[in-house]
Amino acid sequence: MSKTGLTEVLLNEKKLYKPSAKVLKHAKVKQWKATIDKANKDPLKFWEEAAEELEWYGRWHDILDDSDAPFFKWFVNGKCNIVHNCLDRHIGTPTENKTAIIWESDSGKRRKLTYKQLYKEVNKLANGLKFLKVRKGDRVAIYLQNIPETAIAMLACAKIGAVHSVVYAGYSANALRERIDDQAAKILITSDVGHRRGKIIDMKWLCDKAISGSPSIQHVIVIRQDGVHVPMKMNRDIFYDALVETQPDVCKTEVMDAEDPLFILYTSGTTAKPKGVVHVHGGYMVGIHRTFEWIFDVKENDIYWCTADPGWITGHSYIVYAPLMSGVTTVMFEGVPDYPKPDRIWRLVDKYKINILYTAPTLIRALMRYGDSWPKKHSLKSLRLLGSVGEPINPEAWRWYHKVIGKSRCPIMDTWWQTETGMIMISPLSSMPLKAGSATLPFPGIQAEVVDKNGKPVPAGKGGYLVIKNPWPSMLRTVFKNPQRYLDTYWKDFPGLYNTDDLAHKDKGGYFWIQGRGDDVLSIAGHRIGNAEIESAIVSHKAAAEAGVIGKPHPVKGESAKAFVILKKGYEPSDKLIDEIKKHIRSELGPIAITDEIEFVDKLPKTRSGKIMRRVLKAWELGQDAGDTSALAD
Ligand code: PRX
Repeated sequence: MSKTGLTEVLLNEKKLYKPSAKVLKHAKVKQWKATIDKANKDPLKFWEEAAEELEWYGRWHDILDDSDAPFFKWFVNGKCNIVHNCLDRHIGTPTENKTAIIWESDSGKRRKLTYKQLYKEVNKLANGLKFLKVRKGDRVAIYLQNIPETAIAMLACAKIGAVHSVVYAGYSANALRERIDDQAAKILITSDVGHRRGKIIDMKWLCDKAISGSPSIQHVIVIRQDGVHVPMKMNRDIFYDALVETQPDVCKTEVMDAEDPLFILYTSGTTAKPKGVVHVHGGYMVGIHRTFEWIFDVKENDIYWCTADPGWITGHSYIVYAPLMSGVTTVMFEGVPDYPKPDRIWRLVDKYKINILYTAPTLIRALMRYGDSWPKKHSLKSLRLLGSVGEPINPEAWRWYHKVIGKSRCPIMDTWWQTETGMIMISPLSSMPLKAGSATLPFPGIQAEVVDKNGKPVPAGKGGYLVIKNPWPSMLRTVFKNPQRYLDTYWKDFPGLYNTDDLAHKDKGGYFWIQGRGDDVLSIAGHRIGNAEIESAIVSHKAAAEAGVIGKPHPVKGESAKAFVILKKGYEPSDKLIDEIKKHIRSELGPIAITDEIEFVDKLPKTRSGKIMRRVLKAWELGQDAGDTSALAD
């Protein structure tokens, strides 16, 4: 059951970190036990009260419609638009002059946008999209680095009722093409170039490659980041500045039904084809607003930095939408936290007086390796609260984060959630006692459990499958154009329970310890990638006949990929071929699918029905017991 060997380590972890008087003073939820109990007694009432904190154009008839479960509907017939809550409602209030976005780039550029400026920019682009005949329900793909225009583009789409689909800019042209084709996107928004680790990335060139022959793309909007020359196709491509310069800076916000789609975000699953996870306006805004405010103890003048990329769900929910709904300042950073020096992130914390820092264990581990001297060059005194997301945080990294970065005064919110859940699901509230390495307890109103393969709860300390027992407002509604896949992926294994596909256990105090994904999805540096996706990329190389990919524990990235490859007749194993296949994977999927090791083999362990048994491959690789091998063909 132990995927990474974490179980044993984590079980030994008992020390409780109690909140200080200062933390308690700031805590939004002071009575965490009573709050959880109350919400769990009546989750619908809890979510209704959360919804009432936001503005709606028309009130809902019912909080939840579960008549067609698991196709749940929330705030039935409610009328709203998330952008109204992110921007419109701040206009005419003192918030309009507050800084909404602070942006800094590796390229040396910086920008600050007040709420009023952001509102106007969004309106201009929204009008520009209308000019290009984008209508409610149309899909707009966004392929951009971490720049303010990413947020502007998302908000402009949502404002007019179009559905955005941000594709992480680390994905290859092929991966972008697959996502554009699946959703039949009408518009693609990109930039001339992007910046990463001092390198220039040819974004427009990648996009041209991705959409050559695309049946759906009608226009490409190109942001001039560096103003370099890029080929522009007549009647298809248009520069962003040219498009918006003549547009008015007011635009009516489209009245949406609570259940109208807001965005599609593709995520990896057990098959080679990524799933288009669909989120909607109403429930999504309620879920992320309530979790953001309560988990991060948000204060009116907070400067908040989430280091994720807007191309992932963390960026959608907690860089763009939730911070803007709360009217705080959100920091966007186009760069890497250890470039040009390992203290870049700490330098930024001091420079912008960041109060809340939300980052990932892989980054904490990487920065920890450079030693304490780098963070110690900076005061970090503005920090009040720290967050972690994306993968299990090992106790050693947790303690370092707590002591060296948080100076033992900042509580750490280890937040467990997924693209599909839309919002944080398991996380401490700052008033709770913490344990290093545990995401602690489900958020109020969420009922999570660890079960065996029959869906029965397992005793404390025993590992099992993490499931969610009741619906929540920001849950995914379906897989785009594939409701059957929604049912099969999330609801088939344990009838009536949402299957997270994560492995976990609870300790005697009821705290959850997440161990990682089930066997078919890797988490490399916190990025989800399907084993099958990498296998499929490998076998599209001319020399590869078959491939089996496994994840191995990695001290910094959490997990790294190793591929076992059977070559086609006529090809001989060589280091050159290994390099070629690695490059091929990169060009098919992008740098996030980096496969550290490739080994050529003559045979792969398979079931009688021909399915590769990755579990057996992995056990062999790690020198572990392969468990039940009765299904092996030979
Ligand atoms: O395995 C869990 C891991 O990340 C998966 C979700 O990945 P994704 O949809 O890309 O979203 C990542 C950001 C929300 C989960 O199934 N995961 C996420 N947060 C944690 C985590 N594992 C352990 N602890 C966490 N705090």
